[in-house]
Amino acid sequence: EIEKIERIYKSYKEVISTLSKEKGWISPHLCQYQGFWFDPTYNLAGVMFIQQHFKPRPTDVLLISSPKSGTTWLKAIAFAIMKRTSYNSMSVVHPLLTTNPHDCVPFLEILLRTPPIADVEDLPSPRLFSSHIPYTLLSESIQNSGCRIVYVCRNPKDVFTSMWHFTTKLKTNNLPCSSLSLEEAFDMFCEGISSYGPFWDHVLGYWKASLACPESVLFLNYEDMRRDTPIHVKKLAEFLGQPFSLEEESKGIVQGIVELCSFENLSNLEVNKNGTLHYGIKGDVFFRKGQIGDWKNHLTAQMTERLDQITKEKLGGLF
Ligand code: A3P
Repeated sequence: EIEKIERIYKSYKEVISTLSKEKGWISPHLCQYQGFWFDPTYNLAGVMFIQQHFKPRPTDVLLISSPKSGTTWLKAIAFAIMKRTSYNSMSVVHPLLTTNPHDCVPFLEILLRTPPIADVEDLPSPRLFSSHIPYTLLSESIQNSGCRIVYVCRNPKDVFTSMWHFTTKLKTNNLPCSSLSLEEAFDMFCEGISSYGPFWDHVLGYWKASLACPESVLFLNYEDMRRDTPIHVKKLAEFLGQPFSLEEESKGIVQGIVELCSFENLSNLEVNKNGTLHYGIKGDVFFRKGQIGDWKNHLTAQMTERLDQITKEKLGGLF
């Protein structure tokens, strides 16, 4: 079995070596695979393995996003909702108080990045994973499995701004980040050359899927969630088949989850300020400002116009 897995990953390496490459934001290169750009060091082999070998269960929950769209927050909220019978959100021993959301909800690509891979078959149901994999790359077996997919999207101007800061922050984590200037990174983002980009195609894939199969794909938006978090916590719980009872609501459980998972609370916890994730990077890179509209402090009028134009062309009235 181990040898078989190693052979699979060796064949991925061969495929990856033939793909077209561009300068990367974090690793030296991004590779184009099936219409999207991937980091060959950190996630492409994992994406290929998910595509070809991941066995979905109807009870699985997949939290999916384009990077920097609110993944960390969604992970915390979904985890708190699904575990609420074991851990009261107001409890002083809640796992989210001592564990980074990325260690509470594992990234499939990272679990499956390189052998020896994690045995996801051994995990009890319902399994909760996250991924950045584009919709069109999901195998039919996943698309038709009945598993629930929650997608979060965010305004591309804030996504770019967040991604740019994330890349520069990773440098202090001793990762081999390339020396892209803000302008260079911006051009690449607009051309679709960013991790799991083009951003707009990523969003569109899940947007269409949520319209076609609303019972299996829930499409959320960071800005809406920020404006009215309790409504979205309730909506998510309903979608996950675990709606809040009136008793829970009257006990303040929804509000407890909102507060537990808030940027202010999570970003000030010791584990998220100084802790390190199980795969080695510092957990604080996932918390910066958590605001809507920080792009105004970083993008010129010309940049704004260019990004807005692309978004209008590709996504119409979605933002
Ligand atoms: P900013 O860089 O704009 O602050 P991801 O989790 O997909 O990597 O996205 C990271 C972005 O989400 C960062 O945005 C980060 O600050 C923000 N974020 C992290 N935790 C959050 C939370 N609990 N509530 C709201 N935003 C959060």
